[in-house]
Amino acid sequence: MEYKLKTIGVLTSGGDAPGMNAAVRAVTRAAISNGIAVKAIYRGYKGLMDGEIQTFSSENVSGIIQRGGTILRSARSEEFKTAEGRKKAYETIRKEKIDALIVIGGDGTFTGARTLAQEYNIPIIGIPGTIDNDLWGTDATIGYDTALNTIMNCVDILRDTATSHERVFLVEVMGRDAGFLTLNAALASGAETAIIPERTTIMEQIEEAIGQGRRKSKGTSIVLVQEHAIEGGAQAVAKMIEKAHPEYGTRVTILGHLQRGGSPSAFDRILASRMGIAAVQALLEEQRSVMVGLQDGEITYVPLSKAIKEKKDVKADKWQALQVLSI
Ligand code: F6P
Repeated sequence: MEYKLKTIGVLTSGGDAPGMNAAVRAVTRAAISNGIAVKAIYRGYKGLMDGEIQTFSSENVSGIIQRGGTILRSARSEEFKTAEGRKKAYETIRKEKIDALIVIGGDGTFTGARTLAQEYNIPIIGIPGTIDNDLWGTDATIGYDTALNTIMNCVDILRDTATSHERVFLVEVMGRDAGFLTLNAALASGAETAIIPERTTIMEQIEEAIGQGRRKSKGTSIVLVQEHAIEGGAQAVAKMIEKAHPEYGTRVTILGHLQRGGSPSAFDRILASRMGIAAVQALLEEQRSVMVGLQDGEITYVPLSKAIKEKKDVKADKWQALQVLSI
């Protein structure tokens, strides 16, 4: 389809992530500086279907780079997964004279974007915004670094009380199907081990990490458990430990949505700013259905279909590092 890029629509969808606002700001200002109008779409695909749209000027994105969450709000829409839902979305796109979309979100957001792009031949660019860091083709997603630091700070606090009482603490960490947050937070906080979906040898790990720690009279052990590494999460692991070792005084802390909020780190603000500009650039170059990525410090573009489908594994050396450092 031949199109003249006059108006871009931008939305945030799925689980929010710190730095999404910085990305919205960058998209808005990069577009305006290229003479392109920006229509902000509220509440993700739901707002696109319902026509919740506002034209943005540069002032609309003032003072938001430091704010967590998303000023555009976010939602997970079941209706958009249906053909009727996407037809409604397309009708809004036509009515609002939106020539192209920039969608900020994760796996689910990109799956929806790819389908809409295929069905209605709309240029769509994805910006990876999720604390999970589970998208192929980028070393980092917006929000991941901030969430990692939040988890590390929480574990540091927990370690104080864990040490006073010489207890075993299980800390449940988010991540959907991926263990990046859990493994890296474990490394950063000096946890004894991490239970992640990519490597599941739960009781062996516990025996090795906690057993050895206790032999060295550490008294305290902190284990990070990825929410979906085992059905029932950290509570299920706690039951296993309590059965084998009632003497450990096991306690569980579920960090939950605490991990998704907060002011974005410098890394996330800079990443979001670069990616927002790169997304507009991609549209100016007439790219479509690609995700902006970061590889070895450089901005890249990868097909949306690959970003969604290909599986990114945790780094083997990091897993090894955790084993070596917890003895
Ligand atoms: O994808 C981001 C994420 O925070 C995952 O880590 C988590 O599994 C999920 O979203 C939680 O979703 P909700 O906020 O809808 O409960």
